Amino acid sequence: MNIHELTSGRFPYTRLRRKRKNQFIRDLIQENRITAKDLIYPIFILDGKNREEPIISMPNQLRVSIDKLMHIAEKCISLGIPAIALFPYIEDNKDEIATESYNPQGLIPRAIRALKSQFPELGIFTDIALDPYTIHGQDGIIDSQGYVLNDITNSTLVQQALCHAEAGADFVCPSDMMDGRIGAIRVAFEDNDFVNMGIMAYAAKYASNFYAPFREAVGSVAYLGKSDKFSYQMNSANSDEALHEVKLDIDEGADIVMIKPGLPYLDVVYRVKTTFKVPVGVYQVSGEYAMLKLAANNGLIDYEKALMELMLCFKRAGSDIIWSYAAMDVAEILKKN
Ligand code: PBG
Repeated sequence: MNIHELTSGRFPYTRLRRKRKNQFIRDLIQENRITAKDLIYPIFILDGKNREEPIISMPNQLRVSIDKLMHIAEKCISLGIPAIALFPYIEDNKDEIATESYNPQGLIPRAIRALKSQFPELGIFTDIALDPYTIHGQDGIIDSQGYVLNDITNSTLVQQALCHAEAGADFVCPSDMMDGRIGAIRVAFEDNDFVNMGIMAYAAKYASNFYAPFREAVGSVAYLGKSDKFSYQMNSANSDEALHEVKLDIDEGADIVMIKPGLPYLDVVYRVKTTFKVPVGVYQVSGEYAMLKLAANNGLIDYEKALMELMLCFKRAGSDIIWSYAAMDVAEILKKN
């Protein structure tokens, strides 16, 4: 048998390496690209003035007060990042039922108003969930057994979403995984003249170990203790169920759906994108970021190169929007190349 028979005549007529030989041709045939415009930068904020605390579990990330947040927002704009997401570090005012989550004078509404008055063009995404505000660290309101009650939680989430809308947020992002919360929030927006309020649903959010550094960052970890979130967040073993979750959220009025975490769940991103053909977000979560940073800080991988590879992989899988704690790094790398 000769080489032509072995390869059905395709070799040497077809040599894929011709298109990998030089940078110019690799550039020309590249199927996916990342730009700063694909990114959302999540930021942790706290009360007070001129405060800045390093987050130990997430190297290079800070908790900042609203005045310092303004500088970060300005930097994002100058790097071409279109939007930021806000997460609160609540020191006081936690209770059983998350009353602070819908306080119009609370940390998040104040931050939204400050941002919108200075940088009206910067998109603001807010988290809808109760975990930073509860003394038990759960995303909802619990019964005496610690079970998160669905419908009562939804009514608080609606108040929280209206509070963020009134303050001027662009998109609310329910991350709580209660059933029916997208529909409840959508109806409340329609009834309260917020017809153009966006909802980016954490549609398929898995009960993941990769959120651990985040729970430290928002300060819910000590309150959560040994409890888990398996009775509302998804089982990592399932992906048909993710399609069901996404379908419900779209039908209930979500504008954009998100999959979370990112890297271990790219098959879910791909299935959601190919099935529904709607804008899809992916969240490169705190644990993914921490793994990358710690490996790089120990000299095991090149941070910038590995980061850019990850970003392309998110795009290739079908993500339109990427939430990443490395968003500013990505934008800076893109600028310098
Ligand atoms: C809260 C929330 C979590 C994250 C975003 N919103 C944590 C959780 O569900 O326990 C995780 C983000 C990250 O790990 O970067 N509902």
